[in-house]
Amino acid sequence: MRLLRLSLIVSIPILLSITVWASEDRINKSTPGLIWSTGKEVGELYRKSHSEEPVALNEHDELDGGFSSLDGMLQWAIGHSDPTKLKDAAKSVQRLSDDELKQRQIELQELVEKLRMPSDAELMKVAINDLNNSSISFEGRLRALEDLLNLVESIDNANVLHKFGGLAAVISQLDNIEPDVRKLAAWVLGKASQNNPVVQDQVLDFGTLAKLMKMVRSDVVEEASKALHAVSAIIRNNLNGQKIFYAEAGDLMLKDILSNSTFDIRLQRKCVLLVGDLAECQLENIDKAELPFFSDRDLLKAIVDLTLLDDLDLQEKALAAIKILLQLRTIEASIFKDFCALDKVLERTRLQLEQLMEVEDQRDYAKDVEILRQEVALIFYKKLEKC
Ligand SMILES: *[C@@H]1O[C@H](CO)[C@@H](O)[C@H](O)[C@H]1NC(C)=O
Ligand SMILES: *[C@@H]1O[C@H](CO)[C@@H](O)[C@H](O)[C@H]1NC(C)=O
Ligand SMILES: *[C@@H]1O[C@H](CO)[C@@H](O)[C@H](O)[C@H]1NC(C)=O
Ligand SMILES: *[C@@H]1O[C@H](CO)[C@@H](O)[C@H](O)[C@H]1NC(C)=O
Repeated sequence: MRLLRLSLIVSIPILLSITVWASEDRINKSTPGLIWSTGKEVGELYRKSHSEEPVALNEHDELDGGFSSLDGMLQWAIGHSDPTKLKDAAKSVQRLSDDELKQRQIELQELVEKLRMPSDAELMKVAINDLNNSSISFEGRLRALEDLLNLVESIDNANVLHKFGGLAAVISQLDNIEPDVRKLAAWVLGKASQNNPVVQDQVLDFGTLAKLMKMVRSDVVEEASKALHAVSAIIRNNLNGQKIFYAEAGDLMLKDILSNSTFDIRLQRKCVLLVGDLAECQLENIDKAELPFFSDRDLLKAIVDLTLLDDLDLQEKALAAIKILLQLRTIEASIFKDFCALDKVLERTRLQLEQLMEVEDQRDYAKDVEILRQEVALIFYKKLEKC
């Protein structure tokens, strides 16, 4: 605390410029996160500063010697400073050019950031250290993973996770005996890899894909679901990752889950999304020979049949996948017609959607899905004509 106060005294000229801005309403006093106090858990500080709820500020309050608000901090700073020096500082602030003022603003922002909370990097290091600590409690381990889950949402944080030893720490949790820990670890890997080729490749280098694919077969649905989320995130638009995925019989895995109704519908949704992603990637890489996997009749039939289930979300995802699959060269429209009865399925889906459009809270969604259904029908019949 003494150290922080010292830094405040040193920063009085900067603080003075706060008053200048405050009077110009450049500072939004209700900005959440302008709060710090010691003795709080890092994770709690993090959650507070990242929460959607604005933090209520009590003016002039001092908590544990910390200031609960910018005003409180200012009052203290002004009360504890030399009036003559303040006057001089005020004069110098008035003389500042726009550029200098901007610079001051940046410095101030940095100061406030520093006062506000530990940096993301510090938070990540704490969490990683906890994961690496074999005597940490089960709850502590979960909390460390939850903190990382929030932190890697930022791409900058995800990019340094490996540098801090975070990937190794998280990956080692995939072997934890607690399914909840394994689930969270998979989730962190999925989130960090999402649309991030750098992290995708790092995770692939660890050889983690095969392990995650095994986890997809877990009896614990939550674990299977997060593992599949991670697998999808790691291989999305990543040709090297897809190569490993197929080498590990990923195609069979998808087919098994899609064609077996004992699997959880959430898992099936993720699988059908993944098939769509893989097909799209194939479509974008025209020079690459199309994989036989995509024209596997049983796979196609499993996907078409999903549109018959009473689940609009799944229906939509299945139609979206069919729309992409129909555009692949090697998939014959006749398979869709003769083996999957896509023409009949499309008609049945149309009637189903028509009924749903009568239901007030389903209407808009059903309309969207109907548009998608029409697009699929259009592509299907065009393709059918050609052969
Ligand atoms: C201050 O922040 C609040 C909540 O973040 C916002 O609703 C309000 O518009 C902001 N006011 C100014 C002047 O920026
Ligand atoms: C590991 O965790 C235990 C229990 O929380 C704690 O006492 C110990 O200081 C931690 N060790 C390190 C190196 O952080
Ligand atoms: C985790 O612990 C291992 C040894 O048990 C060590 O080699 C590694 O550097 C540690 N990683 C971090 C990030 O502390
Ligand atoms: C469906 O999956 C269950 C396990 O989830 C398995 O026991 C069963 O044999 C599967 N059925 C078929 C037809 O593959």
